[in-house]
Amino acid sequence: MKRILVTGGAGFIGSAFVRYQLRTYPDVHIVNLDKMTYAGNLDNLRDLDPNRHTFIRGDIADAAIVSSAMEGCDAVVNFAAETHVDRSILGATEFLRTNVDGVYNIVETAKKLGVQRVLLVSTDEVYGSIEEGSFKETDPLNPRNPYSAAKAGGELLGRSYFTTFGLPVIVTRGSNTYGPYQYPEKVLPLFVTNAIDSEPLPLYRGGEHNVRDWLYVDDHCSGIDTALRKGAPGEIYNVAGGNERENMTLTNKILELTGRDESLITLVADRPGHDRRYSIDPGKLKALGWAPAMPWDNGMELTVRWYQENEWWWRKIKSGEFKEYYLKQYGNR
Ligand code: NAD
Ligand code: DAU
Repeated sequence: MKRILVTGGAGFIGSAFVRYQLRTYPDVHIVNLDKMTYAGNLDNLRDLDPNRHTFIRGDIADAAIVSSAMEGCDAVVNFAAETHVDRSILGATEFLRTNVDGVYNIVETAKKLGVQRVLLVSTDEVYGSIEEGSFKETDPLNPRNPYSAAKAGGELLGRSYFTTFGLPVIVTRGSNTYGPYQYPEKVLPLFVTNAIDSEPLPLYRGGEHNVRDWLYVDDHCSGIDTALRKGAPGEIYNVAGGNERENMTLTNKILELTGRDESLITLVADRPGHDRRYSIDPGKLKALGWAPAMPWDNGMELTVRWYQENEWWWRKIKSGEFKEYYLKQYGNR
């Protein structure tokens, strides 16, 4: 794989994946197609070698742009998506356009161009909530919010291109990812940056004990890379951190690492349809040689320190579009 199209490569995980590819494979060239929504950020891609990374601003829902970006590529890895559950509850139009129509353009174009590998980055949320045990790739899907329903639609459509046309599609389903450069609408960077500013941490009431499985961003990237290079066409691979924590435990850890106290915790109205627990079994990917490398305590320390030392990155985000969203999302909670 010499030339890889990464879509959504200016976002949180996509930009980490671009850096991962460039540092791991000296011969690889990345074509990075990103629409630059509110979540796309060229600061995430600073200092990349322009001889090995070509950035194109464009929409995966635009077939002509997808086609010209994919021309000559050996593989495509799709990260491009609307990704925030709470925004999908406020309005889902863009979620359907990008997460379903956009994926359709990617697989349709890959079929026309005869691309060797199409990896669709999906999420553990497509399985829905589980009280005990962990989902395997063979379990039925039960997405319960507009974001995860749209992601499930996209991956089902993508996989239909394997069974119908033999397109070599691989799907990964990752768990909650954390690390540097994550847009501060997601709980972890939101709480860390609010805590730095001694602002309230809006913990969803009733969801304090909900559980998420935390996966360090570079481990998610190595998991996707393993599936891309060693996975079998038509297969699905769970990518899990193995760090299940209640939201209250995560919140207390953030308070400890930022030197703040519990008085910042503010219980607010719960998320409608809030999934209680996500848990997936990554055994199938581990059988290909993958394992997460970052222990949760180290990952949390490193991540909190990164936000403490890189205020230049998140302060300008929090003073822009984010302010309007924050008011809409939390103003009346
Ligand atoms: P993000 O919101 O940080 O970034 C998304 C990127 O996609 C942005 O750069 C944005 O500009 C781009 N984009 C959005 N719509 C586009 C379009 N129509 N055309 C081209 N580019 C577009 O997201 P993230 O957290 O990095 O997630 C990346 C992928 O990983 C998504 O597919 C998401 O569903 C999946 N995922 C995320 C997590 C997580 O915890 N963050 C976990 C599992 C899976
Ligand atoms: O599981 C993978 C998914 O993880 C990805 O597919 C999504 O793209 C990603 O956004 C994430 O979804 P979650 O809904 O789990 O993440 P979020 O950070 O929005 O919320 C994590 C938990 O924290 C969830 O139980 C809700 C809670 N929460 C969240 C926010 C934003 C709060 O209590 N308060 C908040 O303000």
